[in-house]
Amino acid sequence: MIDLKKIQNVDIDYLTHIISTDRYDEEIFKTADEIRRKYVGEEVHLRGIIEFSNYCTQHCLYCGLRAENKNLARYRMSPEEIIERAKLIAQLGIKTIVLQSGEDPYYTTEMMCEIIQQIKKLDVAITLSLGERTFEEYRIWKELGADRYLMRHETASPQLYAKLHPGDSLENRKAHLYELKRLGYETGAGFMVGLPGQTPYDLALDLVFLKELDADMIGIGPFIPNPDTPLKDATGGDLQTTLRMIALARIVVPTANIPATTALGSINPLGRQYGLKYGANVIMPNLTPNPYRPNYSLYPGKICLFERDTACVECTKHMIKSVGLIVGEGYGYRKKTESLA
Ligand code: 5AD
Repeated sequence: MIDLKKIQNVDIDYLTHIISTDRYDEEIFKTADEIRRKYVGEEVHLRGIIEFSNYCTQHCLYCGLRAENKNLARYRMSPEEIIERAKLIAQLGIKTIVLQSGEDPYYTTEMMCEIIQQIKKLDVAITLSLGERTFEEYRIWKELGADRYLMRHETASPQLYAKLHPGDSLENRKAHLYELKRLGYETGAGFMVGLPGQTPYDLALDLVFLKELDADMIGIGPFIPNPDTPLKDATGGDLQTTLRMIALARIVVPTANIPATTALGSINPLGRQYGLKYGANVIMPNLTPNPYRPNYSLYPGKICLFERDTACVECTKHMIKSVGLIVGEGYGYRKKTESLA
Protein backbone atom coordinates (compact mmCIF):
# COMPACT_ATOMS: atom_id res chain seq x y z
CA MET A 1 0.00 0.00 0.00
CA ILE A 2 1.25 3.49 -0.80
CA ASP A 3 1.24 6.11 1.96
CA LEU A 4 -0.86 8.90 0.43
CA LYS A 5 -0.16 11.35 3.25
CA LYS A 6 3.59 11.02 2.75
CA ILE A 7 3.19 11.74 -0.98
CA GLN A 8 0.95 14.73 -0.36
CA ASN A 9 3.36 16.09 2.24
CA VAL A 10 6.21 15.58 -0.22
CA ASP A 11 8.25 13.42 2.15
CA ILE A 12 11.51 13.40 0.20
CA ASP A 13 12.76 9.99 1.34
CA TYR A 14 9.44 8.34 0.68
CA LEU A 15 9.08 9.96 -2.74
CA THR A 16 12.62 8.90 -3.67
CA HIS A 17 11.72 5.33 -2.75
CA ILE A 18 8.49 5.08 -4.73
CA ILE A 19 10.00 6.87 -7.73
CA SER A 20 12.88 4.38 -7.87
CA THR A 21 10.68 1.31 -8.54
CA ASP A 22 7.69 0.33 -10.67
CA ARG A 23 6.36 -1.74 -7.77
CA TYR A 24 3.70 0.80 -6.73
CA ASP A 25 2.67 2.01 -10.16
CA GLU A 26 -0.71 0.35 -10.31
CA GLU A 27 -1.76 2.03 -7.09
CA ILE A 28 -0.16 5.37 -7.94
CA PHE A 29 -1.94 5.44 -11.33
CA LYS A 30 -5.29 4.51 -9.85
CA THR A 31 -4.99 7.12 -7.10
CA ALA A 32 -3.95 9.83 -9.58
CA ASP A 33 -6.96 9.04 -11.77
CA GLU A 34 -9.33 9.30 -8.79
CA ILE A 35 -7.80 12.57 -7.64
CA ARG A 36 -7.99 13.97 -11.18
CA ARG A 37 -11.68 13.09 -11.33
CA LYS A 38 -12.42 14.52 -7.90
CA TYR A 39 -10.51 17.82 -8.22
CA VAL A 40 -10.68 18.76 -11.91
CA GLY A 41 -13.45 16.54 -13.25
CA GLU A 42 -13.90 14.84 -16.61
CA GLU A 43 -13.09 17.77 -18.86
CA VAL A 44 -9.83 17.84 -20.80
CA HIS A 45 -8.87 21.33 -21.93
CA LEU A 46 -7.42 22.06 -25.36
CA ARG A 47 -4.63 24.62 -25.72
CA GLY A 48 -3.81 25.63 -29.27
CA ILE A 49 -0.07 26.16 -29.48
CA ILE A 50 1.70 28.40 -31.99
CA GLU A 51 5.46 27.86 -32.01
CA PHE A 52 6.19 31.19 -33.65
CA SER A 53 10.00 31.35 -33.68
CA ASN A 54 12.72 28.73 -33.34
CA TYR A 55 15.53 31.25 -32.90
CA CYS A 56 17.14 30.94 -29.49
CA THR A 57 19.97 32.68 -27.68
CA GLN A 58 20.29 29.91 -25.08
CA HIS A 59 22.63 26.93 -24.91
CA CYS A 60 20.58 24.21 -23.17
CA LEU A 61 22.48 20.98 -23.73
CA TYR A 62 19.37 18.92 -24.52
CA CYS A 63 17.51 21.21 -26.90
CA GLY A 64 17.53 21.27 -30.69
CA LEU A 65 16.82 25.01 -30.71
CA ARG A 66 20.09 25.82 -28.89
CA ALA A 67 22.00 28.71 -30.45
CA GLU A 68 24.92 26.43 -31.42
CA ASN A 69 22.78 24.15 -33.60
CA LYS A 70 23.61 24.99 -37.20
CA ASN A 71 21.60 22.05 -38.61
CA LEU A 72 18.28 23.78 -38.14
CA ALA A 73 16.47 26.04 -40.61
CA ARG A 74 15.47 28.99 -38.45
CA TYR A 75 12.16 30.83 -38.90
CA ARG A 76 10.25 33.69 -37.39
CA MET A 77 6.55 34.36 -37.91
CA SER A 78 5.57 38.00 -38.33
CA PRO A 79 3.15 39.52 -35.81
CA GLU A 80 0.53 39.53 -38.58
CA GLU A 81 1.04 35.83 -39.24
CA ILE A 82 0.81 35.07 -35.52
CA ILE A 83 -2.41 37.04 -35.14
CA GLU A 84 -3.93 35.41 -38.23
CA ARG A 85 -3.17 31.97 -36.78
CA ALA A 86 -4.68 32.96 -33.47
CA LYS A 87 -7.88 33.99 -35.28
CA LEU A 88 -8.07 30.62 -36.96
CA ILE A 89 -7.58 28.84 -33.64
CA ALA A 90 -10.33 30.93 -32.02
CA GLN A 91 -12.64 30.10 -34.95
CA LEU A 92 -12.00 26.42 -34.30
CA GLY A 93 -13.51 26.98 -30.87
CA ILE A 94 -10.30 26.67 -28.85
CA LYS A 95 -10.32 29.04 -25.89
CA THR A 96 -6.61 29.13 -25.01
CA ILE A 97 -3.82 30.22 -27.29
CA VAL A 98 -0.25 29.38 -26.31
CA LEU A 99 2.46 31.54 -27.83
CA GLN A 100 5.75 29.69 -27.63
CA SER A 101 9.21 30.41 -29.02
CA GLY A 102 12.89 30.00 -28.33
CA GLU A 103 14.39 32.84 -26.33
CA ASP A 104 14.27 35.34 -29.19
CA PRO A 105 14.90 39.02 -28.43
CA TYR A 106 13.80 39.90 -31.99
CA TYR A 107 10.30 40.09 -30.50
CA THR A 108 10.57 43.30 -28.49
CA THR A 109 8.42 44.26 -25.53
CA GLU A 110 6.30 46.40 -27.85
CA MET A 111 5.85 43.72 -30.50
CA MET A 112 4.61 41.28 -27.89
CA CYS A 113 2.29 44.01 -26.51
CA GLU A 114 0.72 44.44 -29.93
CA ILE A 115 0.33 40.69 -30.45
CA ILE A 116 -1.22 40.21 -26.99
CA GLN A 117 -3.66 43.10 -27.45
CA GLN A 118 -4.84 41.86 -30.84
CA ILE A 119 -5.26 38.27 -29.68
CA LYS A 120 -7.07 39.34 -26.51
CA LYS A 121 -9.85 40.74 -28.74
CA LEU A 122 -10.64 37.16 -29.78
CA ASP A 123 -12.10 36.21 -26.38
CA VAL A 124 -9.44 33.66 -25.57
CA ALA A 125 -7.03 33.07 -22.70
CA ILE A 126 -3.40 33.75 -23.59
CA THR A 127 -0.49 31.66 -22.39
CA LEU A 128 3.01 32.98 -22.99
CA SER A 129 5.98 30.63 -23.22
CA LEU A 130 8.90 32.79 -24.29
CA GLY A 131 11.55 31.71 -21.81
CA GLU A 132 13.17 34.17 -19.43
CA ARG A 133 12.30 37.81 -20.13
CA THR A 134 12.56 40.83 -17.82
CA PHE A 135 10.31 41.22 -14.78
CA GLU A 136 9.14 44.52 -16.27
CA GLU A 137 8.02 42.75 -19.44
CA TYR A 138 6.12 40.12 -17.43
CA ARG A 139 4.34 42.94 -15.62
CA ILE A 140 3.40 44.88 -18.75
CA TRP A 141 2.15 41.82 -20.64
CA LYS A 142 0.07 40.75 -17.66
CA GLU A 143 -1.57 44.15 -17.55
CA LEU A 144 -2.38 43.89 -21.25
CA GLY A 145 -4.22 40.64 -20.68
CA ALA A 146 -1.78 37.74 -20.80
CA ASP A 147 -3.25 35.15 -18.44
CA ARG A 148 -0.65 32.44 -18.04
CA TYR A 149 3.05 31.81 -18.41
CA LEU A 150 4.70 28.46 -19.03
CA MET A 151 8.32 28.04 -18.11
CA ARG A 152 9.48 24.63 -17.01
CA HIS A 153 12.10 24.55 -14.26
CA GLU A 154 13.53 21.61 -16.29
CA THR A 155 15.10 19.96 -13.20
CA ALA A 156 15.04 20.92 -9.52
CA SER A 157 18.56 19.61 -8.93
CA PRO A 158 20.79 22.71 -8.72
CA GLN A 159 23.85 20.77 -9.91
CA LEU A 160 22.10 19.13 -12.86
CA TYR A 161 20.43 22.42 -13.78
CA ALA A 162 23.81 24.19 -13.87
CA LYS A 163 25.34 21.45 -16.04
CA LEU A 164 22.52 21.52 -18.57
CA HIS A 165 22.19 25.32 -18.75
CA PRO A 166 25.57 27.00 -19.20
CA GLY A 167 25.48 30.47 -17.67
CA ASP A 168 22.16 30.01 -15.85
CA SER A 169 21.17 28.74 -12.41
CA LEU A 170 18.20 27.00 -10.87
CA GLU A 171 18.01 29.81 -8.33
CA ASN A 172 17.52 32.34 -11.10
CA ARG A 173 14.90 30.17 -12.82
CA LYS A 174 12.95 29.85 -9.58
CA ALA A 175 13.11 33.61 -9.04
CA HIS A 176 11.42 34.10 -12.43
CA LEU A 177 8.71 31.58 -11.61
CA TYR A 178 7.98 33.18 -8.24
CA GLU A 179 7.79 36.61 -9.88
CA LEU A 180 5.29 35.30 -12.45
CA LYS A 181 3.19 33.92 -9.61
CA ARG A 182 3.43 37.19 -7.71
CA LEU A 183 2.22 39.12 -10.77
CA GLY A 184 -0.89 36.95 -10.89
CA TYR A 185 -0.09 34.75 -13.86
CA GLU A 186 -1.27 31.20 -13.77
CA THR A 187 2.23 29.83 -13.74
CA GLY A 188 3.45 26.64 -15.31
CA ALA A 189 6.57 24.78 -14.25
CA GLY A 190 7.68 21.26 -15.08
CA PHE A 191 10.58 19.04 -15.92
CA MET A 192 12.03 16.33 -18.09
CA VAL A 193 12.33 12.71 -16.98
CA GLY A 194 15.44 10.67 -17.78
CA LEU A 195 17.98 13.47 -18.08
CA PRO A 196 21.58 12.21 -17.99
CA GLY A 197 22.65 11.75 -14.38
CA GLN A 198 19.15 12.44 -13.00
CA THR A 199 18.40 10.29 -9.94
CA PRO A 200 15.11 9.33 -8.23
CA TYR A 201 16.07 11.81 -5.52
CA ASP A 202 16.33 14.57 -8.17
CA LEU A 203 12.84 13.67 -9.43
CA ALA A 204 11.56 13.82 -5.85
CA LEU A 205 13.01 17.35 -5.66
CA ASP A 206 10.95 18.22 -8.75
CA LEU A 207 7.76 17.28 -6.90
CA VAL A 208 8.82 19.22 -3.80
CA PHE A 209 9.36 22.30 -5.93
CA LEU A 210 6.00 21.99 -7.74
CA LYS A 211 4.27 21.90 -4.39
CA GLU A 212 6.32 24.76 -2.95
CA LEU A 213 5.53 26.94 -5.99
CA ASP A 214 1.95 25.73 -6.01
CA ALA A 215 2.33 25.35 -9.77
CA ASP A 216 -0.88 26.11 -11.64
CA MET A 217 0.27 24.08 -14.63
CA ILE A 218 2.75 21.21 -14.73
CA GLY A 219 4.45 20.02 -17.93
CA ILE A 220 6.27 16.70 -17.64
CA GLY A 221 7.82 14.83 -20.54
CA PRO A 222 10.55 12.32 -21.25
CA PHE A 223 13.97 13.63 -22.26
CA ILE A 224 14.57 12.57 -25.88
CA PRO A 225 18.20 12.77 -27.04
CA ASN A 226 18.63 15.07 -30.02
CA PRO A 227 21.41 14.14 -32.51
CA ASP A 228 22.21 17.82 -33.07
CA THR A 229 23.08 18.46 -29.42
CA PRO A 230 25.90 17.53 -27.03
CA LEU A 231 23.57 14.96 -25.41
CA LYS A 232 23.13 12.99 -28.64
CA ASP A 233 24.57 9.78 -27.15
CA ALA A 234 22.61 9.91 -23.89
CA THR A 235 19.76 7.55 -23.03
CA GLY A 236 16.29 9.09 -23.01
CA GLY A 237 13.47 8.94 -20.48
CA ASP A 238 11.11 5.96 -20.47
CA LEU A 239 7.33 5.84 -20.66
CA GLN A 240 6.73 4.16 -17.32
CA THR A 241 8.81 6.56 -15.25
CA THR A 242 7.33 9.57 -17.04
CA LEU A 243 3.79 8.35 -16.37
CA ARG A 244 4.70 7.71 -12.72
CA MET A 245 5.89 11.32 -12.40
CA ILE A 246 2.74 12.72 -14.06
CA ALA A 247 0.60 10.67 -11.69
CA LEU A 248 2.60 11.77 -8.64
CA ALA A 249 2.38 15.42 -9.76
CA ARG A 250 -1.43 15.06 -9.85
CA ILE A 251 -1.41 13.68 -6.30
CA VAL A 252 0.91 16.42 -5.02
CA VAL A 253 -0.91 19.36 -6.70
CA PRO A 254 -4.48 18.03 -7.14
CA THR A 255 -6.00 21.07 -8.90
CA ALA A 256 -3.13 21.78 -11.29
CA ASN A 257 -3.69 21.69 -15.02
CA ILE A 258 -1.42 18.94 -16.32
CA PRO A 259 -0.91 18.26 -20.02
CA ALA A 260 -0.40 14.90 -21.66
CA THR A 261 2.67 16.23 -23.44
CA THR A 262 3.75 15.95 -27.05
CA ALA A 263 7.06 14.38 -25.97
CA LEU A 264 5.10 11.65 -24.17
CA GLY A 265 3.18 10.98 -27.38
CA SER A 266 6.44 10.98 -29.31
CA ILE A 267 8.08 8.09 -27.38
CA ASN A 268 4.96 5.91 -27.53
CA PRO A 269 1.97 6.06 -29.91
CA LEU A 270 -0.39 5.80 -26.94
CA GLY A 271 1.71 7.90 -24.57
CA ARG A 272 -0.74 10.79 -24.34
CA GLN A 273 -3.71 8.45 -23.85
CA TYR A 274 -1.91 6.88 -20.89
CA GLY A 275 -1.12 10.37 -19.61
CA LEU A 276 -4.84 11.24 -19.65
CA LYS A 277 -5.67 8.02 -17.81
CA TYR A 278 -3.11 8.62 -15.08
CA GLY A 279 -3.67 12.22 -14.06
CA ALA A 280 -3.34 14.58 -17.02
CA ASN A 281 -6.27 16.86 -17.97
CA VAL A 282 -4.91 19.06 -20.76
CA ILE A 283 -3.80 18.48 -24.32
CA MET A 284 -2.02 20.93 -26.59
CA PRO A 285 -2.84 20.43 -30.26
CA ASN A 286 -0.03 21.73 -32.43
CA LEU A 287 -1.31 24.63 -34.53
CA THR A 288 1.98 25.95 -35.79
CA PRO A 289 1.45 26.59 -39.49
CA ASN A 290 3.38 24.81 -42.17
CA PRO A 291 5.97 25.15 -43.56
CA TYR A 292 7.39 26.17 -40.16
CA ARG A 293 6.10 23.31 -38.06
CA PRO A 294 8.82 20.66 -38.73
CA ASN A 295 11.51 23.18 -37.85
CA TYR A 296 10.41 23.59 -34.24
CA SER A 297 12.56 20.60 -33.63
CA LEU A 298 13.34 20.29 -29.92
CA TYR A 299 13.94 16.54 -30.21
CA PRO A 300 13.71 13.90 -32.98
CA GLY A 301 10.52 11.92 -33.66
CA LYS A 302 8.21 14.77 -32.63
CA ILE A 303 4.69 13.81 -33.64
CA CYS A 304 2.12 15.85 -35.60
CA LEU A 305 4.51 16.96 -38.34
CA PHE A 306 3.67 17.26 -42.05
CA GLU A 307 -0.03 17.08 -41.31
CA ARG A 308 -2.78 19.28 -42.53
CA ASP A 309 -2.30 22.44 -40.42
CA THR A 310 -5.36 21.90 -38.26
CA ALA A 311 -5.52 18.09 -38.15
CA CYS A 312 -4.32 18.02 -34.54
CA VAL A 313 -7.59 19.52 -33.34
CA GLU A 314 -9.79 16.63 -34.48
CA CYS A 315 -7.12 14.13 -33.54
CA THR A 316 -6.84 15.34 -29.94
CA LYS A 317 -10.62 15.62 -29.52
CA HIS A 318 -10.96 12.06 -30.69
CA MET A 319 -8.22 10.98 -28.29
CA ILE A 320 -10.01 12.57 -25.34
CA LYS A 321 -13.24 10.74 -26.17
CA SER A 322 -11.40 7.47 -26.74
CA VAL A 323 -10.29 7.42 -23.09
CA GLY A 324 -13.80 8.23 -21.87
CA LEU A 325 -13.24 11.90 -21.04
CA ILE A 326 -14.98 15.07 -22.23
CA VAL A 327 -13.64 17.88 -24.44
CA GLY A 328 -13.56 21.05 -22.31
CA GLU A 329 -15.36 24.03 -23.81
CA GLY A 330 -14.35 26.83 -21.44
CA TYR A 331 -11.09 28.68 -20.90
CA GLY A 332 -9.86 25.98 -18.58
CA TYR A 333 -8.51 28.16 -15.80
CA ARG A 334 -7.14 26.38 -12.77
CA LYS A 335 -9.92 25.21 -10.51
CA LYS A 336 -9.92 26.58 -7.00
CA THR A 337 -10.18 24.01 -4.23
CA GLU A 338 -13.50 25.52 -3.11
CA SER A 339 -15.21 24.45 -6.32
CA LEU A 340 -14.45 20.76 -5.98
CA ALA A 341 -15.97 18.75 -8.81
N1 5AD B 1 13.64 16.15 -25.11
C1 5AD B 1 12.48 16.37 -24.46
N2 5AD B 1 12.02 17.60 -24.15
C2 5AD B 1 12.77 18.66 -24.55
N3 5AD B 1 12.58 19.97 -24.37
C3 5AD B 1 13.60 20.62 -24.97
N4 5AD B 1 14.46 19.74 -25.51
C4 5AD B 1 13.97 18.50 -25.25
C5 5AD B 1 14.41 17.18 -25.52
N5 5AD B 1 15.55 16.94 -26.17
C6 5AD B 1 11.48 20.52 -23.57
C7 5AD B 1 12.01 21.41 -22.44
C8 5AD B 1 11.38 22.76 -22.75
C9 5AD B 1 10.18 22.38 -23.60
C10 5AD B 1 9.67 23.46 -24.48
O1 5AD B 1 10.65 21.31 -24.37
O2 5AD B 1 11.53 20.91 -21.19
O3 5AD B 1 10.99 23.48 -21.62
